[in-house]
Amino acid sequence: TPADGDTQKENNIRCLTTSGHFGFECLPNQLVTRSIRQGFTFNILCVGETGIGKSTLIDTLFNTNLKDNKSSHFYSSVGLRIQTYELQESSVQLKLTVVETVGYGDQMNKEASHQPIVDYIDAQFEAYLHEELKIQRSLSEYHDSRVHVCLYFISPTGHSLKSLDLLTMKNLDSKVNIIPLIAKADTVSKNDIQMFKRKIMSELISNGIRIYQFPTDDETTAQTNSSVNGLLPFAVVGSTDVVKVGKRMVRGRHYPWGVLQVENENHCDFIKLRDMLLCTNMENLKEKTHTQHYECYRYQKLQKMGFTDVGPDNQPVSFQEIFQAKRQEFYDQCQREEEELKQKFVQQVKEKEATFKAAEKELQDKLEHLKVIQQEEIKKLEGEKKQLEGEIIDFYKVKAASEALQTQLSASAKKD
Ligand code: GTP
Ligand code: MG
Repeated sequence: TPADGDTQKENNIRCLTTSGHFGFECLPNQLVTRSIRQGFTFNILCVGETGIGKSTLIDTLFNTNLKDNKSSHFYSSVGLRIQTYELQESSVQLKLTVVETVGYGDQMNKEASHQPIVDYIDAQFEAYLHEELKIQRSLSEYHDSRVHVCLYFISPTGHSLKSLDLLTMKNLDSKVNIIPLIAKADTVSKNDIQMFKRKIMSELISNGIRIYQFPTDDETTAQTNSSVNGLLPFAVVGSTDVVKVGKRMVRGRHYPWGVLQVENENHCDFIKLRDMLLCTNMENLKEKTHTQHYECYRYQKLQKMGFTDVGPDNQPVSFQEIFQAKRQEFYDQCQREEEELKQKFVQQVKEKEATFKAAEKELQDKLEHLKVIQQEEIKKLEGEKKQLEGEIIDFYKVKAASEALQTQLSASAKKD
């Protein structure tokens, strides 16, 4: 029902102040119900040197004690260990995938250390894009494996970032939300930690590395998030041990001089990290992965395949037009290649024919030459034969004459 306060807005859309109950105020509840029914997925990538405390921190985050096998320091290249868990907190189901680097920082030449990580992230984007482009797609059941956050473990040197840290983060910052962590922060003193944090932040800025910023555009979280942004990188401590403090049992690390309580905000930033990651900003991390990092991948990939939204004349071009143009282009190319192949074949056949002909002619010439030689030979032999026959006739003549003479002589001798 149009009410008194109707206002005319641009584009002829009227804002109506409604009276009465319609029911669409329940829409958020429907979304909550559906989300709970579907369950949630969250994918964490842990990048850090061997033995820096990746598995322990994940165990501490989810209060598990998975006792991950320790990696060797002698792998020739960086690998990834992928594990998926089903977790439940009250009625909310979470499918959690944790990807940890294996052998990171152990190679003599570390130039290619980031490549397997980049390849993994891209492969997950590619799989999602593949599903999206299918004719019969099922994105609602699709297990989204895109990496929502990268926890980057910095060695607690108290000094500065290593070139490996800078190189890897530089290669990852456009593909994933990076949250830098100072690992094993219990090994650095309180003052040193503050200086180390400042040093790391200034190095990240001077190298143009963009890390994830907790969003400050939502009123409810703006204040906490902006104060937490100032705490980055988080100085964290992990532990799967439970120690006794007073009468309470807490997660912590026991030292000769006292106990470090992981969940004590005066001891380290673990609680801040857990709250920010799991409680306040998980949805934002997922959204940013989809709208920023995946979008960037998708844009570059489709552009590389020749798709565009506007033509050379700045007029919008439809997907179908581009597809048809591409298909025609492909068809033309196929035809061109076929034609080229045909021509090449004909040329080759001609060349072969010419060589065969030349060989045949050579043989023919040789044959003729042999024939001539043979005829000459025959002639010569015939001449010799004639001469021999003449000689034979002469011989017989002489023989007959000598026989006649013989008989004459013997007859005259008898007479005497
Ligand atoms: P790989 O998977 O083998 O690369 O190691 P990782 O990074 O998963 O390290 P892991 O969690 O296995 O921890 C290695 C060792 O460091 C264990 O002995 C842990 O007890 C110890 N550790 C883990 N976190 C901390 C920490 O915050 N402070 C200290 N002091 N030690 C820690
Ligand atoms: Mg591990």
